[in-house]
Amino acid sequence: MAKCWLLLLCLAFLLPAACATCHPDDLRALRGLARNLRGGGAVHLRTVWSGASCCDWEGVGCHGANGRVTVLRLPGHGLAGSIPGASLAGLARLEELFLSSNSFAGTLPDALFGLVGLRKLSLASNNLVGQLSSRLSDLKNLTLLDLSINRFSGQLPDNVFHNLKSMEHLAAHSNGFSGLLPPSLSSLSSLRELNLCNNSLSGPIARVNFSGMPLLSSVDFTSNYLSGSLPLSLADCGDLKSLSLANNRLVGTIPSWIGELDHLRLLDLSNNSLVGKVPKRLTRLKGLVATVGHSPGMVSTNMPLYVKGNRRILGQQPNVISGSRNTIRSGSNNVVSGNDNTILSGNDNVVTGSNNAVSGSGNVVTERNHVVYGSNNVVSGRNNVVTGSNNVVSGGNHVVSGNNKVVTGG
Ligand SMILES: *[C@@H]1O[C@H](CO)[C@@H](O)[C@H](O)[C@H]1NC(C)=O
Ligand SMILES: *[C@@H]1O[C@H](CO)[C@@H](O)[C@H](O)[C@H]1NC(C)=O
Ligand SMILES: *[C@@H]1O[C@H](CO)[C@@H](O)[C@H](O)[C@H]1NC(C)=O
Ligand SMILES: *[C@@H]1O[C@H](CO)[C@@H](O)[C@H](O)[C@H]1NC(C)=O
Repeated sequence: MAKCWLLLLCLAFLLPAACATCHPDDLRALRGLARNLRGGGAVHLRTVWSGASCCDWEGVGCHGANGRVTVLRLPGHGLAGSIPGASLAGLARLEELFLSSNSFAGTLPDALFGLVGLRKLSLASNNLVGQLSSRLSDLKNLTLLDLSINRFSGQLPDNVFHNLKSMEHLAAHSNGFSGLLPPSLSSLSSLRELNLCNNSLSGPIARVNFSGMPLLSSVDFTSNYLSGSLPLSLADCGDLKSLSLANNRLVGTIPSWIGELDHLRLLDLSNNSLVGKVPKRLTRLKGLVATVGHSPGMVSTNMPLYVKGNRRILGQQPNVISGSRNTIRSGSNNVVSGNDNTILSGNDNVVTGSNNAVSGSGNVVTERNHVVYGSNNVVSGRNNVVTGSNNVVSGGNHVVSGNNKVVTGG
């Protein structure tokens, strides 16, 4: 009787979410789940999951209006044993399931693929084994799937990814997946992050056509056995920030289109069998350790990228630029050496070499034949043309105009 009054009170006066009496099906499923979970954390859950207001239970989230359980977050909860598929399947409206960093073992229960409303599924860092079921294709609303750091094996099923048009983050790194890359990965048109590193995948990397993934930001295939040349389709991924293909069996040359990837911040092609010359546009990358040839040591990471043959608009981070005839259009705190460079604007640059044009303020310019505009520059060397204010100029044979300058030398 008291329960009924409480329910009426809730319905009449309070927000439904605050009184969330969860749906009887979900309550039954969660109680079953608690019974079937193993590990130290399961004992804890059986204690704290009490009463009938399951929407208030630890790790449980409900739809505000209808009291259906939509979220189950139990990462790092000390859970073990097999994943209780039948109990989970009772949570028919589940959208987010986070079971990462537990000690779940065994294979994935087939019932998991009945949770067709799932948007996010993370099972990372467990001891799960077996092949990935082609029933994955039933989870059409998935935006995130993380299977990383388990002991899954076998081929990634093909013909499952065609259906997963909402997938944004797909990670299955550090497992034992082997065999060929499934071409249906090419259909993941919403994909932003793809991490399959540290598996035993083999065959041509070009089995995946990246052209249809315009949002792709990060690709990590490090430490597999992928072969063939770098797929031209990657050139269509204009948002790519990170490309890690180290420790594979890639052949061919380093294509010049890599230099066209405007947002690239990390490129690691080390330990492959790439041959030939490093394209001109890549030679200015910081950390580019060696040309390829027979050297396995080519690596470039965290580059303050300036690869587009002087056409790049620099971001705000400091760049280190060497080489000749570079044009720096914007950006600060750059260190520039080489000849015939043009700094069109920007502050606090250090410029050495010859025949540079510098504007902006706070630049330090040494050596010869520079043209310097702007203020508060320190110029030394010879034969420089300096205009602007508050410049400090030393050396000889300069042409200096402007105000408040300090000129020493001849
Ligand atoms: C998948 O997402 C769409 C769009 O949000 C939704 O209308 C649909 O009900 C979802 N499917 C399932 C099975 O929950
Ligand atoms: C690679 O995966 C194995 C398990 O397959 C794991 O033991 C190892 O730590 C992983 N290595 C890296 C560098 O992540
Ligand atoms: C890749 O897919 C695009 C369409 O997204 C297509 O135009 C192109 O021919 C494909 N490339 C290859 C190598 O199959
Ligand atoms: C180079 O990559 C192969 C996999 O293709 C791997 O077995 C090997 O350990 C890697 N070598 C280094 C030095 O990382």
